[in-house]
Amino acid sequence: MQVQWYPGHMTKAKRAMKEDMKLVDLVIEILDARAPLSSRNPDIDELGRGKARLVLLNKADLADEAANRAWESYFKEQGVVTVRADARRRADMKPVQAAVQTACREKKERDLRRGIKNRPVRAMVVGIPNVGKSTFINSYAGRACAKTGNKPGVTRGNQWIRLGRNVELLDTPGILWPKFEDEQVGIRLALLGSVKDEILGMEELSLKLLEFLQNRYPEALEARYQLSEADTKRETAAVLTEIAKIRNCILKGNRPDREKAARLIIDEFRSGRLGTITLELPGEEQGS
Ligand code: G4P
Repeated sequence: MQVQWYPGHMTKAKRAMKEDMKLVDLVIEILDARAPLSSRNPDIDELGRGKARLVLLNKADLADEAANRAWESYFKEQGVVTVRADARRRADMKPVQAAVQTACREKKERDLRRGIKNRPVRAMVVGIPNVGKSTFINSYAGRACAKTGNKPGVTRGNQWIRLGRNVELLDTPGILWPKFEDEQVGIRLALLGSVKDEILGMEELSLKLLEFLQNRYPEALEARYQLSEADTKRETAAVLTEIAKIRNCILKGNRPDREKAARLIIDEFRSGRLGTITLELPGEEQGS
């Protein structure tokens, strides 16, 4: 399998991002809590060198609670200020505000030593497509302002949004490109909807998801599709056919519509109807 993303635009996007980075003190990196490492672009370490950093584990409402806690500890142990959120909820922005202050403490102290008082922190939001950057900016800023769009880099003509006395936020997020060589990471990104669906066939992707669910969340599979325990243990292809029948995904001639069933399973995973599911845990090899 070969999964590629934005091959031609990378250099240009990176250059644009570097320019925007020069303007800010703080980088708010948004990751998908269901696969924080896979949804992280490792180039951000180089791009954000010398900046205060904050990791936001977003879509935490869709992820496994125990895994959320494990990921929070994982990042905190590495000295990264981390906060989790459902970016659609205004109430979740309160802990974010506190985390922004923590992440910028050093900068504030440096400013004070130089006699600079009350200079607002300038921040920008970055992340790969679909992790919730625009949703976050809208909730954090309290109004509809972030433009959506999936071109990497940052749209020119940015505006600063003033957030209280302390923070100024760029109104457009920096869109990073998903980066991976590993097939498993590519699959996770496809499941999160961060790489285009056409890249991997839906059916193939659904079989990978079914295999994962069989190993990690068999109860979710049983509960959602009323499968027997024995059914959930069958070959993934047979499980898919079974779900097609149960969900009435039937073609002419009474044949199971596997493509439709595949889309249904993936949609139900993405929307959380399959339950709160995390695709990777700290300490696991990326390829496992
Ligand atoms: P992006 O800028 O990083 O590309 O992501 P964007 O904000 O456009 O969000 C992508 C999708 O994820 C949107 O759903 C958005 O509502 C949803 N989303 C963002 N943050 C969260 C979160 O913390 N929890 C959950 N459950 N969903 C979140 P959509 O279906 O594409 O659009 P919409 O119909 O909801 O507007």
